[in-house]
Amino acid sequence: TAEADLAGRHVVISAGGTREPLDPVRFLGNRSSGKQGYALARTAAARGARVTLLSANAALADPAGVDVVHVGTAVQLREAVLKAATDADAVVMAAAVADFRPTQYAAGKIKKKDGQEPDPIALTRNPDILAEVAAERPRAGQVVVGFAAETDEVLVNGRAKLRRKGCDLLVVNEVGERKTFGSEENEAVVLGADGSETPVPYGPKEGLADTVWDLVVERIDRG
Ligand code: PMT
Repeated sequence: TAEADLAGRHVVISAGGTREPLDPVRFLGNRSSGKQGYALARTAAARGARVTLLSANAALADPAGVDVVHVGTAVQLREAVLKAATDADAVVMAAAVADFRPTQYAAGKIKKKDGQEPDPIALTRNPDILAEVAAERPRAGQVVVGFAAETDEVLVNGRAKLRRKGCDLLVVNEVGERKTFGSEENEAVVLGADGSETPVPYGPKEGLADTVWDLVVERIDRG
């Protein structure tokens, strides 16, 4: 899209995967590279938006013309999202956020004890950032978009997740070879709370990003 249809708009995007520390050298994490979220940031900037990119552990260069805030954990990401969302026209959560974090952080490196079984790792639930933003809508007319990486019953699970999270759009991508986590390409169906279903064929992550912005532009200030 050559059109600056996001000019004057502020969009907030999360990218990458949170890391939940266990001790000074270990964490619970996931395979998100941040590429899909960074593609959303680049395409939104190209369409004229003011972009705040909340980046969780992505090993990617900061995109030009974008405000980048680097975070580590889900709790840090929540704080950054809620702060940036106050005047946002759209919030897009492409990050893979850990549902749980280790209950205890060991200040010293956890050691293996000779002849003993390892201690189990107790987990605590993390806040659901997407559900919280969708429930609060800090700015009237704000569009809230979630992502879901699914392995089975992709559309059925996607529809249920869209309802549960209360967002306007949910981008459902199936986990597989050469798509979703870590790849340059993706393929998805974008589900709308209004019942719409927009399939996006396999291609560069920018293509999916531009379709998301097309659907967001249609919905900004509609509600
Ligand atoms: O980064 P890449 O390598 O390019 O890969 C892109 C991607 C696969 C990470 C991305 O396309 C994607 O699907 N992101 C969401 C991953 C996921 O599995 O999300 P989820 O089903 O756990 O969560 C659903 C939605 O709720 C997401 O928008 C997530 O950001 C949000 N969430 C989840 C848990 C939580 N505690 N807080 C949240 O806000």
